[in-house]
Amino acid sequence: MSLSLSADRPTVPGVADDGVWLECIACGDTFAPFEDVRYTCDECDGLLEVRYADLPTFEDFSGRGVWRYADALPLSEGVTTQEGATPLYEVPRLEADVGVETLRIKHEGMNPTGSFKDRGMTVGVAVAQELGVGRLACASTGNTSAALAAYGSRGGMETLVLLPAGKVAAGKVGQAALHDARILEVDGNFDACLDIVRELAERGEAYLLNSLNPFRLEGQKTIGLEILEGFRDDYGAFPDRIVLPVGNAGNTAALYKAFRELVQAGALEEREVPKLTGVQAEGAAPMVEAVENGADEVRRWEEVETRATAIRIGNPVNAPKALPGIRETGGTAIAVSDDEITEAQRDLAAEGVGVEPASAASVAGLRKLRASGIVDDDERVACLTTGHLLKDPDAAAAAGNEPEPVPADTGGVLAHLEGGNTSAQ
Ligand code: F0G
Repeated sequence: MSLSLSADRPTVPGVADDGVWLECIACGDTFAPFEDVRYTCDECDGLLEVRYADLPTFEDFSGRGVWRYADALPLSEGVTTQEGATPLYEVPRLEADVGVETLRIKHEGMNPTGSFKDRGMTVGVAVAQELGVGRLACASTGNTSAALAAYGSRGGMETLVLLPAGKVAAGKVGQAALHDARILEVDGNFDACLDIVRELAERGEAYLLNSLNPFRLEGQKTIGLEILEGFRDDYGAFPDRIVLPVGNAGNTAALYKAFRELVQAGALEEREVPKLTGVQAEGAAPMVEAVENGADEVRRWEEVETRATAIRIGNPVNAPKALPGIRETGGTAIAVSDDEITEAQRDLAAEGVGVEPASAASVAGLRKLRASGIVDDDERVACLTTGHLLKDPDAAAAAGNEPEPVPADTGGVLAHLEGGNTSAQ
């Protein structure tokens, strides 16, 4: 396994003061971080990564939430609504049923706007302020738009969100609306929305806060750091595997980067790096296809469909960062059906953990990988659940019990109850 980052600190104008720079993952070109707006490499259009002259170890972290990890971030503070520090739930029945030594659920739905996106936005919106840009924008399957709207508003900035018309869960549209984003409903899928917003950003119309923006992924690294600290504190060892839903593969890329930085800082042994295991819906699984075929590039799927609308994505823009993460850590990727996703959503709900469909993909994927023997029974596993149940109330209602109409008197209610449980699943 090769987990190295380029260690040489380049001579970049503006870098000398704080030891932070941007580096192209394809050609290695470097750029000062806060002087000009750029999302990809000027030379080759490759993806950019934030690099640091000094990398922290666990001893350097203090406080609570995303900013506990300030030493691993490009700024020391951000526009915050107390994101991060999410629960790492025990789920004993599900753990026994799936058949692994340990299963914990890192529930990112417990962030302020109900998804992990808040971790990226607290950093990304602060960088936008540092750059002095005016309008913020994103394409979104819903959660990014909710987080951008909330953090943009808190930062006193204008926000513009492009959503695939008719394909965004109700809770998310409501959040973007109330947090005062201008909502553009595009007659096309998420990938089409992202193409448009990238062009708007290139023309200087807005600052792009999709996960193509390397600063957002810095905030999302903290999911990995919290999982490692949680397992270390509870079991004295890090997890063997982290299973996560994949859309644009931003989290996969971010967690891989968090682990590489810890290895480089000497805080984590290479053999301790958890196996990154990605899960996609069958109807939107270009990353799984690439992993299965051993391909270096991901083929864009033009037609995508899944009940897990958050990950209804055919062109995972962070694939060049995420594919090496899956391979180098010894992980894998798997596709699950919509019915398997709903079943896993019910399994989690039965343990009191309410998640939206995309989130349940992680548990559905783990179950499948365990059944096929790819995951061993002695593994310690963390499943990431990325968004809250209330994000998609329609999916929750469809997956759960039917309300039962009863008359407005106790006798009638008792008679109904004695008639047996007529609720349907
Ligand atoms: N889970 C949820 C609930 C999401 O909202 C997303 C992405 C993902 C998983 C996939 O994460 O892109 O890092 O692989 N949602 C984006 C959005 C696309 O617009 O809200 P990823």
